[in-house]
Amino acid sequence: MSMRVENRVQEMGKNSQSVREKLIDRTPKSSEMALRGHPSLAMEVVQTVDMPHQLYIDKAEGPYLTDLDGNQYIDLTCGFGPNVVGNRFEPVEKALAAQIKKGWHYGIPGAEQAHLAELIKGSSPAVDEVMFCNSGSEATMFAFRAARAVSGKRVVALFDGSYHGIHDYALVKADHRSERSDPTGVTLGAGIPEEISQNLVTMLPNRDSNAFDIIRKYKDELALVVIEPVQSSNPRLDNKEFLQGLRDVCTECDVLLMFDEVITGFRIEYGGCQQYYGINPDIITYGKAVGGGMPIGVVAGPRKVMNAFSGTDDTPAIFAGGTFNGHPLTMVAGITILEYLKENQDEIYPYLHEQGNRIGTEINDFCSSNNIAAQMMNAGSMMHLIFSGDHIESARDIGRSKVEKEFYLHLLGHNVIVPGIHLAFISFAHKPEIVDQVIEAFKQSFIDMREDGLL
Ligand SMILES: Cc1ncc(COP(=O)(O)O)c(C=O)c1O
Repeated sequence: MSMRVENRVQEMGKNSQSVREKLIDRTPKSSEMALRGHPSLAMEVVQTVDMPHQLYIDKAEGPYLTDLDGNQYIDLTCGFGPNVVGNRFEPVEKALAAQIKKGWHYGIPGAEQAHLAELIKGSSPAVDEVMFCNSGSEATMFAFRAARAVSGKRVVALFDGSYHGIHDYALVKADHRSERSDPTGVTLGAGIPEEISQNLVTMLPNRDSNAFDIIRKYKDELALVVIEPVQSSNPRLDNKEFLQGLRDVCTECDVLLMFDEVITGFRIEYGGCQQYYGINPDIITYGKAVGGGMPIGVVAGPRKVMNAFSGTDDTPAIFAGGTFNGHPLTMVAGITILEYLKENQDEIYPYLHEQGNRIGTEINDFCSSNNIAAQMMNAGSMMHLIFSGDHIESARDIGRSKVEKEFYLHLLGHNVIVPGIHLAFISFAHKPEIVDQVIEAFKQSFIDMREDGLL
């Protein structure tokens, strides 16, 4: 070993060094692809893992992903959430194949849209009607617009720590220098006019009753209060009391309440967080799971709000449309998955909660008995490992740790993929023995890093 390599090993630790070598060794095709880069791509669409280099996936089956070099990994990406029953679910594959034989894009609707709409409507007492678009971001954009039209007011309130997609009105985040209980907003990234965070989107503190006072104070300006009933940045289920308080104050103040269920819909329960908490919002957005792995966004709600899409009953009509809205492939995939989830909900959702809780409990027990400052937060099958032993109340308490990236590299070395956003999911295809392997891989990664002096 040369002096330089020896020094690097000392700096990095021998386990970190050897997992890098192992991964580089066994992923030459991904490495070549990453090095070659994509001269025509401004950015990779999404990052799977970025260490030791971007991995490229060739195929997916059940709980597994296989990379270009044929290495198989346990998949904790689940397509960034949508794949509730696992990858390449056979009934969806068959439905897509059958639809392809009939052509896959007509513009003019077939019968499928109404069928999927009926299924969504049947999942929630808060839904009379739905409209389809192509992503969660489009859904939240349309929902904000509809709320402004219905209420005649302008300001949309978002919670600290939330994510609602990529359009200008969703990309206002709490300024972390502002007061925790009364946050102010800043736009995220270049290109978004500051006027949006100054005049049109305001911030509320999550899990903090001061939010209710702010709503009372600004009720005459607030068109909509938007919440992820479970924030993916702070995945936990003990939100009932806060959500009920929020429902009550929005009703009292005549302000519309939206549940953004893009990530939680058909994942936390068949009826999403609405069913889990027994709360009816005035607008709901869905995406991810409801498309069975195909691109989708859905705005749903009671007629009084959904009238904004048709201009019925003197409600001012908003402009809404989209070339691919209600795409036949998405519709048949959505119908197939929702029929399956509906039919098997009594088995699927308890299983997802049980296994998600098992991962959380076993990893947390391991961390506390080994004095490791980390904790697994989970809301059923959605989870996030936080590198801090402190109590977490809101997303403000969660920072990115320096060791985080290194941890996921080790996990990859133990053949488990968590995507670059570090939010992990399991699916119904992650059977107990796979979950055992996941837990073991997490524990072993902690041990590797402790041996290297990193934890
Ligand atoms: C709660 C929530 N809303 C909206 C979105 C945006 O959805 P999409 O990525 O499909 O645009 C996401 C995506 O993760 C989300 O989690």
